[in-house]
Amino acid sequence: MVMTHSTDSPPASFDLKTYLSDRKLRVEAALDASLPVKYPETIYESMRYSLMAGGKRLRPILCLATCDLMGGTEAMAMPTACALEMVHTMSLIHDDLPAMDNDDYRRGKLTNHKVFGDDVAILAGDALLTYAFEYVATQTRDVPAERILRVVAALGRAVGAEGLVGGQVVDLASEGNADVTVETLDFIHLHKTGALLEVSVTSGAVLAGADDAAIATLSDYAQRIGLAFQIVDDVLDITATSEELGKSAGKDLKAQKATYPSLWGIDESRRRAQRLIDEAKAAVDSFGSGAQPLMALADYIVARTH
Ligand code: IPE
Ligand code: IPE
Ligand code: MG
Ligand code: MG
Ligand code: MG
Repeated sequence: MVMTHSTDSPPASFDLKTYLSDRKLRVEAALDASLPVKYPETIYESMRYSLMAGGKRLRPILCLATCDLMGGTEAMAMPTACALEMVHTMSLIHDDLPAMDNDDYRRGKLTNHKVFGDDVAILAGDALLTYAFEYVATQTRDVPAERILRVVAALGRAVGAEGLVGGQVVDLASEGNADVTVETLDFIHLHKTGALLEVSVTSGAVLAGADDAAIATLSDYAQRIGLAFQIVDDVLDITATSEELGKSAGKDLKAQKATYPSLWGIDESRRRAQRLIDEAKAAVDSFGSGAQPLMALADYIVARTH
């Protein structure tokens, strides 16, 4: 008898490194094509300076992964994947401004305002944010309009005062406050970082036409990895070097930011992040072997060094 490989048996091992580098390349090619330079060149150059500066591209990769998991094609999700990275890049440009975290380095380069000035950096953020929505609306093909509309609405909610902006406001208001509660800290993390990661995960599934139960499961996964992601970011701010991070390390302590390590120390913060990752993986276990990329991406969030 001839032994054949069953097509639905899980591959022996999933190679995250290859998966990440392959997706990153494809996302970066799509980002590059999304934003040609034209008049007035300064604003396009400023937008491209930060958008094309590297980064892990985690948000677009999560969006592509869930679209794939729910049976969609890469083409259906790529415009949204690019838009997520445009919004994320806007948040970094603005987060680094002197009026906010006042950082000089990002993604291994001088921050946008250090090169282009505060005025152009603010406008580059505005332009990336608005272009993201235009891009989803005009570039998404072969997806019913209702799904695109749902993605646009969810993205708006995730980035505005109900999401990232709300989290950033409480983050800034909590600077220098030694009595920040765990509830406030969770609010900051779930909003400033978790909300965009959550819509990154769910938008891919929505575009692919996933049902509400699958989307709820993916939201659960995403909220846990989102919180873990920011806990690890806070730990790395203390334990990693500026060279490893591509941004100035040790800034949170100096700015008296409310962070997990400031409440619980580094070891307990790491344990809490690991617990969240275990719970996130358990949430998507029911999807079977197709969830391998999501499982590996969850592990990567706690294991990463930058
Ligand atoms: C940094 O995000 C900002 C946070 C939400 C902590 P990333 O760590 O994903 O930054 P890049 O995109 O890889 O540069
Ligand atoms: C970032 O939080 C959240 C957003 C950019 C929305 P941080 O301020 O901790 O991010 P880094 O450490 O500067 O990347
Ligand atoms: Mg900040
Ligand atoms: Mg910052
Ligand atoms: Mg940080």
